[in-house]
Amino acid sequence: MAEPLPVCYLNGEYQKLRDARVSPLDRAFLFGDSVYEVLPVFGGRMFRFREHFDRLARSLNEIRIPSPHTHAQWLEILDDLIRRNGGGDMYVYVQVTRGMEYGRNHAFPVPPVAAGIFAMASPLPVLTDELRANGMSAITVEDFRWNRCDIKSTALLANVLMKQRAADAGAQEAIIVREGDVLEGSSTSIFVVSKGAIATPPNSSRILPGTTRDVALELADGAMQVTIRRIGIDELRAADEVWISAATRDVIPVTRIDGQPVGTGKPGPLWKRMNESFNTLRARLAGTPVL
Ligand SMILES: Cc1ncc(COP(=O)(O)O)c(C=O)c1O
Repeated sequence: MAEPLPVCYLNGEYQKLRDARVSPLDRAFLFGDSVYEVLPVFGGRMFRFREHFDRLARSLNEIRIPSPHTHAQWLEILDDLIRRNGGGDMYVYVQVTRGMEYGRNHAFPVPPVAAGIFAMASPLPVLTDELRANGMSAITVEDFRWNRCDIKSTALLANVLMKQRAADAGAQEAIIVREGDVLEGSSTSIFVVSKGAIATPPNSSRILPGTTRDVALELADGAMQVTIRRIGIDELRAADEVWISAATRDVIPVTRIDGQPVGTGKPGPLWKRMNESFNTLRARLAGTPVL
């Protein structure tokens, strides 16, 4: 895993990530009381900025933290962070916590305290030749998360345990299934391709509304047949292609699930088309304003 870039933003100040410190009384540390966003940057330009900050505003609203910044203010803060880290391609992680009080109480602090804000940048993972040629492996896991998976909360213990279960099995992702319904990966959205048609599960409180999933749906629209609907575990196992998507990695082919090949066991033709469409979109957006 590549190291993060050197400069971070913490509560109003840019500083060296290695020297950044937060209080153990911050509610993110005590309760996981915080939400986050992750967005890619291509050629110094944040991708899907509005969609990511709309989702952050929604997550904050759902957990009743007043939004500390407008979209325009976030843009200024993060553009500066990107510049200070040398620009180019990277991804940005942004976290907002409910803040800290002197003590540990489950209910919100009275009077309210200032939100804690942290952002850092990291190199963007590249699609390796190995991934492009052979895809990745996944396992399936029964869901044991809470019932508000639509909130992008930093309380990710269940996701951490699922991803580790995948790692223990020599796989890279855990595909989450609840009572026979395929939902998403532990940190990705999911697509299943059968007989030339693409399907992805509907947004609900059981999954995170993926920003990359939306891009893929837009790119597929017109060029490929795509439906948003319930996907059963049997359909996943019988699929011709399975893809996962996330902001830092676009769309990645999954070619083995629970040790069995998906379709031919190699990345499929529709994935290749989708991957090319993403590359074209990125090139088209270069240099255009984000808001
Ligand atoms: C549980 C979960 N689902 C889906 C996604 C994909 O969302 P996005 O495409 O916005 O990165 C993520 C990304 O972190 C995630 O954690």
